[in-house]
Amino acid sequence: CGIVAYVGHREAAPLIIKGLKRLEYRGYDSAGIALLNGNGLKVYKKKGKVADLEFELQGKPLTAKIGIGHTRWATHGEPNDVNAHPHYSQSEHLAIIHNGIIENYASIKKSLIDKGYTFESETDTEVLINFIEDVRKHKNCDLEEAVRLALLEVVGAYAIVVIDKDNPDQLVAARKGSPLVIGIGEDEYFFASDATPIIEYTKEVVYLDDFEIATVNKGKLAIKNLQNQEKGPFIQTVEMELESIEKGGFEHFMLKEIFEQPKSIGDCMRGRLNAETAHIQLGGLINHLEKLAKAKRIVFVACGTSWHAGLVGEYLFEELARINVEVEYASEFRYRNPIIKEGDFVIAISQSGETADTLAALELAKQKGATILGICNVVGSSIARLTDAGVYTHAGPEIGVASTKAFTAQVTVLAMIAIATAKAKGTIDEGEYRRLLSEMAAVPQKVEEILKLDADIKDISKLFTFASNFIFLGRGINFPVALEGALKLKEISYIHAEGYPAAEMKHGPIALIDEDMPVVFIATKDSSYEKVVSNIQEVKARKGRVIAIINHGDTEVKNMVDFAIEIPTSHEMITPLLASIPLQLLSYHIAVLRGRNVDQPRNLAKSVTVE
Ligand code: G6P
Repeated sequence: CGIVAYVGHREAAPLIIKGLKRLEYRGYDSAGIALLNGNGLKVYKKKGKVADLEFELQGKPLTAKIGIGHTRWATHGEPNDVNAHPHYSQSEHLAIIHNGIIENYASIKKSLIDKGYTFESETDTEVLINFIEDVRKHKNCDLEEAVRLALLEVVGAYAIVVIDKDNPDQLVAARKGSPLVIGIGEDEYFFASDATPIIEYTKEVVYLDDFEIATVNKGKLAIKNLQNQEKGPFIQTVEMELESIEKGGFEHFMLKEIFEQPKSIGDCMRGRLNAETAHIQLGGLINHLEKLAKAKRIVFVACGTSWHAGLVGEYLFEELARINVEVEYASEFRYRNPIIKEGDFVIAISQSGETADTLAALELAKQKGATILGICNVVGSSIARLTDAGVYTHAGPEIGVASTKAFTAQVTVLAMIAIATAKAKGTIDEGEYRRLLSEMAAVPQKVEEILKLDADIKDISKLFTFASNFIFLGRGINFPVALEGALKLKEISYIHAEGYPAAEMKHGPIALIDEDMPVVFIATKDSSYEKVVSNIQEVKARKGRVIAIINHGDTEVKNMVDFAIEIPTSHEMITPLLASIPLQLLSYHIAVLRGRNVDQPRNLAKSVTVE
């Protein structure tokens, strides 16, 4: 979910609505706003997108200088008007917005019901606001203290903002596990799940930490922890520019982000990798590289697309640095009592740096004594702050829910770390090291060339718009590329798609192949090329329709398949950065042709801060 709140001298409603639109990547099944003015506290909410809420608000008296807003990704209760946030307390004196899950809500709810409270929605959030109201009544304390005392009893994750009808100059916010950024303007404060709704007004921000409560009272901000100790706000400057979060003439954010990749990959390497001087320096890892070179084992923890980047990382580290690697779904790792030994590194990969499962996996690894590193895109995110060290991907804000440029930036970072580690360890010779660096440096230019195939890929997409299944096959380091290609297609077109290691196909998925089954092969000229060619023949023999990603000039495969997409050659370890681009375009065009909302696919959210 995404939350926005404002208190100051501006009109709160338009500012909050605009902010919610920026946060829609975090969830978009319902939205709402609560405004507080001389006439009292009023909540408006609506199933659907923020635009539906905006429509609903037309003609309503919205003048207010303080307000809270929410865009939801449902956890408790289906997406409808009633379950949408903000939620009133029973007396309608308090209103709350909440991102997260209150795990012990059922027992709190029961005790409130015993006291005579009734509930309109099925949400844990309505329970929390009534609990806060009940504490305030019984302890006869102010709102901040009531929030503090209530949160001491709460198990779960939250970023909340609460406002009070009787106190129109006051706003109380708190965080545990879900992000919350406070923007500090002149006599005004902005609260949001990330900095994007804020940067238009101020670049000065405070990232609230877990177990902290921030209160604005009559224009003054105070932060304390749940133990009631005052904390000095640590003000930081965000570097983000407004144009980086706008569409810039593209039809969708996803397409813009696909086309940004020559730049984002270049930005990721800038100042870090220099092919001419044969040098890699990753500032964030300076103190850890030597230890990493001696690591017994690296465990990558991640979810979704970031997990696929981890799989590419596995091939890179094993091949180049000869370090044993495991890649774990963060959600599995955290509940399996993982074995961590001395000398183990646990590396989290996360675009948002906020994914609840990844964060929890990392906390567990830290408790167990691992050195924990992070590869994150969002600067100042929770994972970036928790880790001992790390490398930012610097891909810029990614807004399309389906990850594209963040993925290639993650792979770029992983390749740089693997190459630097291999060099430090002596597992690659100088010639190979130099070749890898110059191949890396050439990637932005090669991606640029691949993007010129956009119109051709769109033409191919037209022929597959009505497919109901897809198989993606690749081997070696391109196997994770196949998985990512399948995930992209599923996410945005809702076509069922499976990624498989090409040779493993004959042990099952081959049964699915007939003239209606499109099969996408990554068949670049690498060490498994010949084997992949045989796999293509196996599919053709069963009348499957093959789209192949091949290298320029490969007539052998070109003559064998239905459609060939030709990309430049590269070092085998670097091909994922190239081969993934046409797959992104293929998914994009199929989804657009099917009329899907590619930037906000159904049921998904970009940043999942609940487990
Ligand atoms: C969500 C998104 C995915 C993303 C995953 C991990 O499920 O829909 O696109 O890959 O979270 O996100 P992260 O921010 O940790 O990379």
